[in-house]
Amino acid sequence: MKDKTQSKEKRRLVFDFLKGSKLFFAVSILSAALSALADMLTPQIIRTTIDNVIGSEEASLPAPVMRLIEKIGGFGYLKTHMIIMALAVLAVALIKVASQYSFRVYNTKGSETLVKTMRDTLFHRIERLPFSWHMKNKTGDIIQRCTSDIDTLRNFVSEQMTGIFRIAIMLVLSIIFMLSMDPLLTLIAIIPMPLIMLYSLSFHKTVRTQFEKCDENEGKLSAMVQENLTGVRVVRAFGREKTELDRFNTQNTYYTSLWVRVAHSLSRFWSSSDFLAGFQILIVVAVGAVFCVKRGTTAGDYVAFISYNGMLIWPVRMLGRMISEMSKAGVSIDRIHYIMKSEPEHDLPDPVKPDMTGDIRFEHVTFAYENCPEILTDVSFTAESGKTLGILGGTGSGKSTLMFLLDKLYDLPEGNGTISIGGTDIRLADTRYLRENIGMVLQEPYLFSRTISENIGITSEHITLEDIREAARDACLDDTVMQFAQGYETKVGERGVTLSGGQKQRTAIARMLTQKTPVMILDDSLSAVDTETDAKIRRALEKHFGGATVIIISHRITTLSHCDRIIVLDKGRIAENGTHDELKCAGGLYSRIYESQSGLGEEV
Ligand SMILES: Nc1ncnc2c1ncn2[C@@H]1O[C@H](COP(=O)(O)OP(=O)(O)O)[C@@H](O)[C@H]1O
Ligand SMILES: [Mg+2]
Repeated sequence: MKDKTQSKEKRRLVFDFLKGSKLFFAVSILSAALSALADMLTPQIIRTTIDNVIGSEEASLPAPVMRLIEKIGGFGYLKTHMIIMALAVLAVALIKVASQYSFRVYNTKGSETLVKTMRDTLFHRIERLPFSWHMKNKTGDIIQRCTSDIDTLRNFVSEQMTGIFRIAIMLVLSIIFMLSMDPLLTLIAIIPMPLIMLYSLSFHKTVRTQFEKCDENEGKLSAMVQENLTGVRVVRAFGREKTELDRFNTQNTYYTSLWVRVAHSLSRFWSSSDFLAGFQILIVVAVGAVFCVKRGTTAGDYVAFISYNGMLIWPVRMLGRMISEMSKAGVSIDRIHYIMKSEPEHDLPDPVKPDMTGDIRFEHVTFAYENCPEILTDVSFTAESGKTLGILGGTGSGKSTLMFLLDKLYDLPEGNGTISIGGTDIRLADTRYLRENIGMVLQEPYLFSRTISENIGITSEHITLEDIREAARDACLDDTVMQFAQGYETKVGERGVTLSGGQKQRTAIARMLTQKTPVMILDDSLSAVDTETDAKIRRALEKHFGGATVIIISHRITTLSHCDRIIVLDKGRIAENGTHDELKCAGGLYSRIYESQSGLGEEV
């Protein structure tokens, strides 16, 4: 039952994708049909020429054709004006050329429109899928679904689906013409066909697994190159060039051997199926010749019959390939359907806009990532409105997870406690509104491969350079940027490699400051800057904080000592809660960390 609804959904998906391109494909199918018809006509003209124009057999042509011939003077006239027959062949050839041209044009229009629709739809969906979905799925895999799977589907629609009409027309018409000329010979010609088709089908199934293996290994090879490019520093620093080269060589040699194997298989198939086809033609030619002598088959019929027989072989061979390609398209549809059936983020009906200037309250929050052990256990605390809350805790204690939950990047399941802002449970809140009002600097800031000013000003479309500079000044970034030759127009390299860790963090802080949100969160955002800059940024930030509710996460006591309240998180539980002065003397985790860090000479 589930399978049935699934395949119905997939069919609907393909139809939805075809919305803008259906008409183009319809025209291209009609053109393909016309071209196949033209193919079918030429042998008829030649047959008539041989039998009725050159020879003097009784003509048995359709009535309209006979009338036309009578009109221009009958077969006698045609005999003295053979050019007319040649012109008829030319006219048919022109029809074929025109229909092939229109097939190509409309097929390309259709398939490009189809690909565009698919890309747009998928990207649109991916943009709205929950953060947790993105964390669960590998980027490379998603990209592959949006590129090569789309390509497979495009090829299926533009080549297989349109091709199947052409093949059907050629098969049916060839057989009809052949039957009308000689039923017995047609039977003899058709008998080996299922054999050729089965052979082609079984071959294409085998070669498909070989192709898949090639694809898989191409992926491995490019992953290796990509890893070496991004990890170039590690490779150089540890002198791993030789090992990496050897690894690459082995993979590359294997990959090449796979393609050579495919080429061998293909050559074997084409030569053996050519042989089979040749054998079938041999039978038809030989038996046909015997029939000419014994049963009085006319020369024209014989020539036309052999032409149609030749046209039969190609579709039969193609049919095997198509059936095997269809299952390949099936896999791609599955993979695309997986993205389309994933549930996008959505709010409960009538979402509420909470009072973002109110207290932020975590009450008995317990949380575990999917299929993982519990990360947070019974966490309760309040970040008071307009105050600064510090969160201290070792790596992996769940600090970032707390902030992901607050920003609704992960949903807190019912019954696992509540998180509220200004008294509103965030489960009921308008997610977009909530996120717009929480400025967050993530632990690992991500910078786009754009200019510094674009990276800072990404939060709003109407931001001025002056706003950007002001934010950068407060994040202690302006001086650094002004030293670059192109200032704020400096392009940040791929993944921001031209900036140091601390500079990236400061860019992310400046980005947040441009937002002027009532809630600000700094998740370990000053870890990569020295203590002096840390203090400088904090002082500048305090000016910005104004009435905002601020949460600062850090493992450095100096960063937190000025907070109005500090909580200490230990293995997902609140271990301590108080002000710096209280915790410093409480003899707990905080005071131990305080002592060890002040021992290092850090100014507190
Ligand atoms: N998406 C995830 N899926 C599964 N486990 C995760 C995920 N993100 C973080 N974790 C785990 O949750 C724990 C807490 O992580 P985190 O909140 O980032 O800690 P902190 O910020 O305190 O260093 C870690 O053990 C980490 O491995
Ligand atoms: Mg963290």
